[in-house]
Amino acid sequence: MAVVGGGVIGLSAAWKAAGAGFTVTLFDPAVGSGSSWVAGGMLAPLSEGWPGEDEALAFGAASLSRWPGFAAELKAVSGTDVFVADQTLTVALDAADAADLRTIADWVNARGHDLRVLDRAGVREAEPSLGRAVRAGLLATAEPAVDNRALVDALRIACGAAGVEFRAERVESLADLPHDRIVLATGSWAAELWPDLPIRPVKGEILRLRRRPSAPPPPTRVIRARVHGRPVYLVPRGDGIVLGATQYEVGFDSAVTVAGVRDLITDAESVLPGIGEYEFAEAIAGYRPGSPDNLPLIGRLDERVIVAAGHGRNGILDTPVTADAVLALLTDTELPEAKAADPRRFSTVAPLHPGGVR
Ligand code: GLY
Repeated sequence: MAVVGGGVIGLSAAWKAAGAGFTVTLFDPAVGSGSSWVAGGMLAPLSEGWPGEDEALAFGAASLSRWPGFAAELKAVSGTDVFVADQTLTVALDAADAADLRTIADWVNARGHDLRVLDRAGVREAEPSLGRAVRAGLLATAEPAVDNRALVDALRIACGAAGVEFRAERVESLADLPHDRIVLATGSWAAELWPDLPIRPVKGEILRLRRRPSAPPPPTRVIRARVHGRPVYLVPRGDGIVLGATQYEVGFDSAVTVAGVRDLITDAESVLPGIGEYEFAEAIAGYRPGSPDNLPLIGRLDERVIVAAGHGRNGILDTPVTADAVLALLTDTELPEAKAADPRRFSTVAPLHPGGVR
């Protein structure tokens, strides 16, 4: 079988398939160099919950619950521990945001999860380096974060150990591939190979900041906030902080803009005043593979093609459940937790047609 696309989705599908006995060839001219390399690595379906978004919460939670086992398996084969934080703290800087945190907590907790609302003193006790403007918080004790780049490297090692063959080639058409099964995992570019797919690039800029001796230590948790209506997050790393992320609907535009960098730093400074002491190490832009309903597309497109793309803001979070869902499809079963991701929910996606080849 072939996997087209070597981001975390394609790599994990290839790894699981090879482990299940499939002979796997993975096609990507530059494995791991796309959105998976740019990402922040948050695993935060609960903190990102909002009333009415039940399917997104259930899908994200199904993947979150798989992360400990997935990471342990990956560590056993690659030697890499990908976790960089154990918890997520979303903070509010004004009364409206504080009210939103209570709304999220009530809604998410009513669905069997655990989010805790903290007052100002509770936030300061948890993360003393945060700014005085922070007035409330939402603590998710079950939402960790991973180092996305360590994850890419570990998956690459795991694939190698499982016998996946890497072909550094760009696939121009799925019809060129002789394989009996194909997993299409090219993220924002999926519609280039299957034009009916409603997947588009959603640009994001993200910064990597390195700690200097004079700088305050990174927070111990993932810190999320909304500043001037813009979302901002700080994800700890061994050597500093990943600071993200802007969001624009501008197609494939990989430029890092002055305004994007300015906004991220200004917003982050409201949350963590000492951030100016960090070294500016990297600014990079990537593309979230957006879908119309913010859920991915995972399912069969015809007799031989399975799509696993459109993960939007949640590609790293959704990796374990997507790998399990793809493996189920490869063995002609379905993973119940992935039902909401069935691509046939979109009328533009052609229904299955026997023997169809693109
Ligand atoms: N996963 C966070 C983002 O897309 O910015």
